[in-house]
Amino acid sequence: MLATKQKVFRRFWYPVMPKAHLAGGKPVPFRLMGWDIVLWQAKDGPAAIADQCPHRGAKLSLGFLDHEVPDGPALACPYHGWAFGADGRCRKVPQAHEPLRGMKGGAKRHHAAERYGWIWVALEDPIAPIPDIPEAALPGFRQIDEFHEEWAVPGLRLMENSFDMAHLSYVHAESFGILAEPRPAPVEIEHKPWGFVMRGEAPVTNKGVSKELLKTDAERTLRVIEGRWFLPFMRASRIDYPTGLTHVLVTAATPIDDRRSMICQWVYRNDTEADAPAEKVIAFDRQVTNEDRLILESSSWDVPLSMSEELHMPSDKPGIEMRRRLAALLAEHGEEEARLPREE
Ligand code: FES
Ligand SMILES: [Fe+2]
Repeated sequence: MLATKQKVFRRFWYPVMPKAHLAGGKPVPFRLMGWDIVLWQAKDGPAAIADQCPHRGAKLSLGFLDHEVPDGPALACPYHGWAFGADGRCRKVPQAHEPLRGMKGGAKRHHAAERYGWIWVALEDPIAPIPDIPEAALPGFRQIDEFHEEWAVPGLRLMENSFDMAHLSYVHAESFGILAEPRPAPVEIEHKPWGFVMRGEAPVTNKGVSKELLKTDAERTLRVIEGRWFLPFMRASRIDYPTGLTHVLVTAATPIDDRRSMICQWVYRNDTEADAPAEKVIAFDRQVTNEDRLILESSSWDVPLSMSEELHMPSDKPGIEMRRRLAALLAEHGEEEARLPREE
């Protein structure tokens, strides 16, 4: 499946960058599903429009914020200074005595919002809200922002990996997996309009800094997992430990193009900085994430939705359900699955 070719994916919200990236008062470019867009902090919140000036095609992200436009700041083009509002319409033509009368059109406008400390964009009218993460609003939980980085991995590969209980023993043998126990416990899946919830358990070892982060001396522990998958490329995986610690790992694989994703990851934990310093939490998750990255970046990336092209085993159920749901979503919107051209 080629994400940029599936038009319905333009109608979902994706986190693109931490909100701090817009705080500097400059426009910031981003490539979302192959579309070059530019973001800035407008009067009423973040704004996102096509990163191409409708006058002579200059990159608006090389421009500046014009605070003299009423209700600004508007985004000014670096070439001739035309300025555009959050709706993409031209608000100022410095060469004219007044904005050009009767000028139609403008830069294409996208939906932008801020939530969880991140800037979110939907290229076209969204068909689903920004995913709800209840723990974000629960007292006693803190948020730690972890990663914002580009991987050469398509969203579906990362999503199926995040729900793949069989890879823990192998890919994460150095960090928490148990190589001698490769057979994962079965999981249950409950379908939701927005994706599914997977419930399961995984025994893990407490290696390295884990004992400190989990506040335990035990050599192993049990993760009780409630993994929420949000169509198409986001998950929030809640893990409850016997010690009472809960952490919720939020990961979005925001599609940059067919092969690459912007990995946006943050975590909620019901402990304190004194219990587990954010720096150590991030360092441990960095190790784990890099273990996945090595495998995923070297895996084939035009992931088939059909069941016949790759082989499967029972523990692949979450990834299989993702393929079914994505195929159903495409069918519902009258789309065929797009694939790379194949040689016979
Ligand atoms: S190209 Fe942007 S104002 Fe002329
Ligand atoms: Fe993993």
